Amino acid sequence: MKLIFEKSVPGRKMTVLPACDVPEVCLPAGMTRAEKPALPEMSEVDISRHYTELNKRVHGVNCGFYPLGSCTMKYNPRIDEEMAALPGFTDVHPLADKADVEGSLEVLGCAKKLLCEISGMDDMTFQPAAGAHGEFTGVLLIKQYHDARGDKKRTKIIVPDSAHGTNPATAAMCGFDVVNVASNPEGGVDLEALKAVLGDDTAGLMLTNPNTVGIFDKNILQITSMVHEAGGLCYYDGANLNAVMGIVRPGDMGFDCVHMNLHKTFATPHGGGGPGAGAVGCKKFLAQYLPKSALMEGEGHIQMRSFMGNFLVVVRALTYILTLGKEGIPEAAETAVLNANYLMEKIKGTFTPAFDHVCMHEFVLDLAEYKKETGVSALDVAKSLIDRGIHPPTMYFPLIVHEALMLEPTETESKDTLDMAAETFRELYQLGYDDPQLMHDAPHHAQIGRPDEVLAARNPVLRYKK
Ligand SMILES: Cc1ncc(COP(=O)(O)O)c(C=O)c1O
Repeated sequence: MKLIFEKSVPGRKMTVLPACDVPEVCLPAGMTRAEKPALPEMSEVDISRHYTELNKRVHGVNCGFYPLGSCTMKYNPRIDEEMAALPGFTDVHPLADKADVEGSLEVLGCAKKLLCEISGMDDMTFQPAAGAHGEFTGVLLIKQYHDARGDKKRTKIIVPDSAHGTNPATAAMCGFDVVNVASNPEGGVDLEALKAVLGDDTAGLMLTNPNTVGIFDKNILQITSMVHEAGGLCYYDGANLNAVMGIVRPGDMGFDCVHMNLHKTFATPHGGGGPGAGAVGCKKFLAQYLPKSALMEGEGHIQMRSFMGNFLVVVRALTYILTLGKEGIPEAAETAVLNANYLMEKIKGTFTPAFDHVCMHEFVLDLAEYKKETGVSALDVAKSLIDRGIHPPTMYFPLIVHEALMLEPTETESKDTLDMAAETFRELYQLGYDDPQLMHDAPHHAQIGRPDEVLAARNPVLRYKK
């Protein structure tokens, strides 16, 4: 497919403007371009076809099954989009007087109240633009807390070895030393290993529960009180809240601070880089350090992002919470867990789950043995799924499972879809024994086969060059 710039034909345009019937006014000298911008010149129909063609080449939640572990690619109800598209919200000027945007402030206040209730926190900011940005904000709160007490020796943040990569990255960016703590054979935190690393240099612990192997750590109250006894604070990475929302609350598990990925759990279409919102909640004693927001008076707070953050993501989240209600929120979590367990059970007997017990909203397959027997890797299976209309699961994560495929079906998938997916996994399992080369060469029907992902990440070419 040609790039839009390559389709450009000099002089071709979309609209024909009537002759100018008012006096021409020139821009002041120095404010005009020396050259015309290099925009493609096209007719309206060609532009429409170009983008429709691009759309057909992308796999989204609206195209088919998307079990991308850790990413909660659920179907996002249309009503959330309708609310976020209301001109009263989209046309708000970020510098408008508070008195002129009372409706928007009401949305922020209401969303804060409900999300504090869901997370068990006392206060919240909507400034951070994503989960990782929320982690950064939350760990800065922890840092400010220790600094304000003059407790300068607390230089270490403890992170389990199953953690999402953003956790150690955040701790390091906030200037802390990262201390890894091992997992036990059940996939939870090893309490002895935790005890060994706790001390008067512990600033805090970052933890996801359920964690990235889909396990709810039943020792959580013990873990958080061990950290508190050592003088540290507990940060909850809420990226996996979809498994427990409305059922248990991070605040009741002993956490002091939390982020929630509104774009995952509370329905905003995401992927490809945004937009998102990493709402950060905290207990009362940390609230004084929260970033300044449109709801706060006074100076002296840190500023994490411009204005009110990604406000329309909060509008979607509020709509989602209000439409599901007090009964619907836990029901969605329960269905997410049920769907994950159903799919895991249907796949069992072929690919092997990394941890053989009831999972939460996602599970990890361990293909190490299968690869030894067939030569077919997790990557080969992922690429073969593309040919069958299924988005690949998350691959090679978490790092503690070596040939990992991590599946998160979410609550919005039907039994038929899960049955179809399980059947596809079973078929691919057998294909690995019958015709492994076919899987090494997959995908056979996608636009792009196996790009050099390291090169693409290290040397991204984001601009068109002739
Ligand atoms: C467990 C976990 N923590 C943090 C993040 C970071 O969230 P975001 O991608 O919104 O920055 C993710 C994202 O996948 C995650 O799965």
